[in-house]
Order: sequence, then structure tokens, then C-alpha cells
Amino acid sequence: MRNNELIEKAKTHLGLLIEEQFERIERMKKETKWVDYGVLKPIIIGICAGDGIGKIISKHAERVLKHTLQEEFDSGCIEFRTIRGLTIENRVKHKMAIPADVLEEMKKCHVILKGPTTTPQAGDNWPNIESANVAMRRELDLFANVRPVKIPSEKIDWCFFRENTEGAYVLGSRGIDVNEDLSLDFKVSTTQGAERIIHLAFEYAKKNGKKRVTVVTKANVVKTTDGKFSKIAKQIAEEYKEFGIESDEWYIDIMTAKLIDPARRADFEVLVMPNLYGDILTDEAAQLQGGVGTAGSANIGKKWSMFEAIHGSAPRMVEEGRDIYADPSSMIRAASMLVRHIGFSERADRLDMAIEMCGSFEKKHVITGRAGGATGEEFTTYLLDWAENAQLEDQWRKMVEAK
Ligand code: IPM
Ligand code: MG
Repeated sequence: MRNNELIEKAKTHLGLLIEEQFERIERMKKETKWVDYGVLKPIIIGICAGDGIGKIISKHAERVLKHTLQEEFDSGCIEFRTIRGLTIENRVKHKMAIPADVLEEMKKCHVILKGPTTTPQAGDNWPNIESANVAMRRELDLFANVRPVKIPSEKIDWCFFRENTEGAYVLGSRGIDVNEDLSLDFKVSTTQGAERIIHLAFEYAKKNGKKRVTVVTKANVVKTTDGKFSKIAKQIAEEYKEFGIESDEWYIDIMTAKLIDPARRADFEVLVMPNLYGDILTDEAAQLQGGVGTAGSANIGKKWSMFEAIHGSAPRMVEEGRDIYADPSSMIRAASMLVRHIGFSERADRLDMAIEMCGSFEKKHVITGRAGGATGEEFTTYLLDWAENAQLEDQWRKMVEAK
């Protein structure tokens, strides 16, 4: 093809992407109402197992979830549904990130607990289909990826608000190879998309007595899209000054350094950022908390929400026969976030205490990811025993104070 033909082809492709984004913006403008779980009966909870270690750790999380909400299940206020088919084999078979019938089942639920799913990459054993996570976040418009990280012994209590439907991700599978030498990807930022995530972060700060919201960008270099995010953040920050909430902006590079600066890191409270920076920063933060196996992740939209581990499906653990030793804490954290999200915050508090008691304080059964360590099942039984124990809160407080 001649150069001008290549350029025309690229222009047509870009035109299509812009049209889609215009439509998305119109949808965002219309969708202003949040679901009210208080009036839903039953609240339908979908459970998707996923791939790799997901098949196992989601079973443990499901056990914890069902145990925690047993009363509501018995009284018909909550319904559990198993959603099958979000496996890499089935996605490959249909050549779709989420097969249509699976997506339909998901949309019939109100909230979803999802195990990690395998994300193919060019050159591995699977066809290079889009990530199920990215597709689910887009299809269900789960725009806020909320990832809390706590290190009580250092007084670290961070809550990350990662934009989940735009940035480098939304068109991550729609880049173009213009010719064999030139490849382009696209990064998207919209006014509506930035406003809704930044607002949510500030609202969280306000409701939880936090005094600082940190905005993370690379607006000095990525001037247009990050520039928009940064500008909107500054406008929104003005609205929250009267509530005693201050705001500052850090670039992603220095932010990754500051998270490992013991003298400064406990000062951060609420952090809000575009998609890819949030992906990177939350893995770093989770590692500081004790590993990516310890962190849960909420994907919140106005209509649906999905809860998951922050890590992937760890196929290597399965190949090496170590899947039964995989840490289910991240998925159990996700279950606890789900329980909190639908209105049972006291029970979620207890679950969180039990997770910390078993994983950070008492550590009677320690998960190492290998034979010799506790299995996920043993750990889950241990955790449920603590969740039932009347001494939990007292013991947990003692442990926190002693640290
Ligand atoms: C995450 C994961 C996903 C992401 C992958 C699996 C596509 O790393 O949830 O952070 O990059 O968002
Ligand atoms: Mg990630």
C-alpha cells in the first residue's frame, strides 16, 4: 500500500474510535443514578471462578461469602448464582473476551465476585484476545477501581482510586500497525470520565474523615490526556477545600519512589489516578502490605459492581502443582469489600479483622505458596474460626496496639 492509502486507513480507524467515544460520553451523561441496594430484594450475587489459581481461591472466597451472608440467604434477601464460562478455554473458543451468554448472565446479577482470569499476550500459547477484566470493566461501566492498602504497624491506610474505563486501557486492543514499521496505541481521557472518578475519591475522603487527596499523573509529559485529568482534579479540589480536604499532585515516577520512602509514605491517604498508573502503583502498594496475594480490588459502577483479587491467575503455580497452596486472602478481601458495598459494613469489619488476625498477627497457619505452607483451605477454615470467635475484636485491638 502507498503511504497516502495507509494514512487514509489509519484515519478511518481513528474516526471509528472517536465516534465510539462520543457515544460513550453521551451514555455517561445520561447515567447519573446509583443503584440502591437497600431496595433490592433479592440482591443477586454472581460468582465467577476464573482461570488458574482462580478456580481454587474463588471457592474459598465463596465459602467465606456464603458463611457471612447465611442469614440473608436463608431469608431470601440474597441470592447466589454461579456464572460459568469465563474460562480462558471458553473465551478462546468464542474468540471473545467475554462470551455473549456469559456477559448476559453477569448483567442479570447486581454484584459479582470474580476470580483471576488469564490475560493473553502476543506470543504466548493463547490467541491474543482482549483481557476479560478490561472487557468487563468496559461492558459494565465499572469506572472506579478502589484498592485499599493498610499497614497498621506503620499507620499506613491508603485508598487508591484508579480510573478503570479510560486511559491507556480502553483502546488497548484497538491500536494499529500502520505498516510494518509504525505502530500506534491510543490513550483516552474524557471530561465526564475524569470527573466521576475524581469526585468519588474526594467524596470518600469527606465521608471517611480523610484530609488529603493526592492526584497522580504524568501531566508534564503526557500533556493532553493527563493534562485534562490534572486540570479537572484541580477544579474539583476547590469544591472540597471547605471540608478541610487538601489536594496535591505527584508525577507517577516520583510517586512510586515516595511509596517506599518510610519517612513520607504514611502521609498519603486517598490517591486518585488514570488507569495504567493505578495498575502499577497498586501492585507496588500491595507488595508493601505483604504481597499482591493480600489485596482485594473493587470495581465500582453506578449499576453493577465487581470484586476481585488484584493479581492474576498465576498459571505457573498450577503447572507446578502448587495451586492448593495459593493465598486466598486477596479474594477473601474482595468478598469482604462486596459485603461492605451492599450494606453490611459491620460484618465486613469482622472479616477484615479476621484476615489481619490470621495473615498478619497470630499467623498460626502461614501460606507460603509452596508445599510445607498452609493450604488455602486450611487458611480459610482458620480464618472462619476467628470470624466466629467472640474474642476477635479484643484480640485484634491488642495486636494492633502491640505492633
Ligand atoms: C489488574 C490486572 C489487570 C489490569 C490485567 C489482568 C488486565 O493487572 O486488575 O490490575 O491490568 O488491570
Ligand atoms: Mg494490575
